Amino acid sequence: MRTRITTPVPPEQLAEDARRAIGDAVWAPSVHNTQPWRFGVRGARISVRADADRRLGVADPAGREMLISCGAALYNLRLALRVLGYAPDVRLLPDPDRPHLLADVHMNPGQPPDGDLEDLHGRIRRRRTHRGGFGPGGVPDTVISRIATETQTEGARLIQAVDAHVEGALAALTDAAEHVQRRTPSYASEIARWAPAPGTRRRDGVQEGGYPREARTEPRFAARDFARGQDRGVPGPAEGGGREAGLVMLLATQTDDPAAWIRAGQALQRLLLRADQHGLAVAFHTQALEVPELRDFIRTRFCAGRHPQSLLRIGAVSGDAPRFEAVRRPVEEVTTEEWW
Ligand SMILES: Cc1cc2nc3c(=O)[nH]c(=O)nc-3n(C[C@H](O)[C@H](O)[C@H](O)COP(=O)(O)O)c2cc1C
Repeated sequence: MRTRITTPVPPEQLAEDARRAIGDAVWAPSVHNTQPWRFGVRGARISVRADADRRLGVADPAGREMLISCGAALYNLRLALRVLGYAPDVRLLPDPDRPHLLADVHMNPGQPPDGDLEDLHGRIRRRRTHRGGFGPGGVPDTVISRIATETQTEGARLIQAVDAHVEGALAALTDAAEHVQRRTPSYASEIARWAPAPGTRRRDGVQEGGYPREARTEPRFAARDFARGQDRGVPGPAEGGGREAGLVMLLATQTDDPAAWIRAGQALQRLLLRADQHGLAVAFHTQALEVPELRDFIRTRFCAGRHPQSLLRIGAVSGDAPRFEAVRRPVEEVTTEEWW
């Protein structure tokens, strides 16, 4: 870890630091592990772009989840630059004529990082999406209130399901969305494209190791069935009760536009890393937010008119929870050196 950067920063060091920061950015979560981002590096500036070829045309026609994913990568980029001793200066959507240019990040010289930032940074590559139930052991209120405050700093709101009825309703809406999506052939083939076969050499998509092994929770939150109809897919209904669903949360924003989606993504990633720091894991259930009528229902009934961007379950996992290999595309594949 660097203590202080010298100014002016030599071009070779800027290039090396930009490369390292992008190497961390790509470990963000993304819908179906589509990794819908590209980075451009020019001197002390890193640009973050959405890669529209990787947008889910059926599940995400507006590109909302694509921009949430890119926002999560932007948060990692900021954090990595802070840890390298920079003070990243971020301009969101700097050019209205280029809507896929999501952010320009300037690598201004800054202060050495504190231990907390270093700790969060160390979790970027270790964190994994959780897809099962949780063990006993609640989520401390202090942790939730800290996460809620940080989420707000990033421009989003964390809304906790207040009681078992709200949890049950959100679980039922997730189930309804899952049923609607499964009977839509275009949706089913889209998800199949992002569920590569075991042994694949692809560096994207949801790999077999990430599928839920013990998906059933109480209340039952339907898991996405990434390998439907194949023996590696989601296990069928189990006998008896399920594992705990954890705290059910909605991440919501005041507006529903590209800037809000990018902010929601940054808030999401900060939340995931902070949760990891406290031994908590997070599961996503985005299905209901991909069905416009259900998303609107959730907005009016459970978000006081704010726009829901993610539906999450947060809980404690035991230390021996299975860790699986995660994949990302290498930095060279997603980065362009810009010289104009
Ligand atoms: C916007 C967004 C929506 C997601 N929706 C779901 C979901 O509905 N179900 C799920 O199991 N995972 C969901 N994920 C998690 C991704 O599948 C996961 O981030 C990706 O496969 C990479 O794995 P990792 O997070 O373990 O690194 C979502 C992630 C993002 C950023």
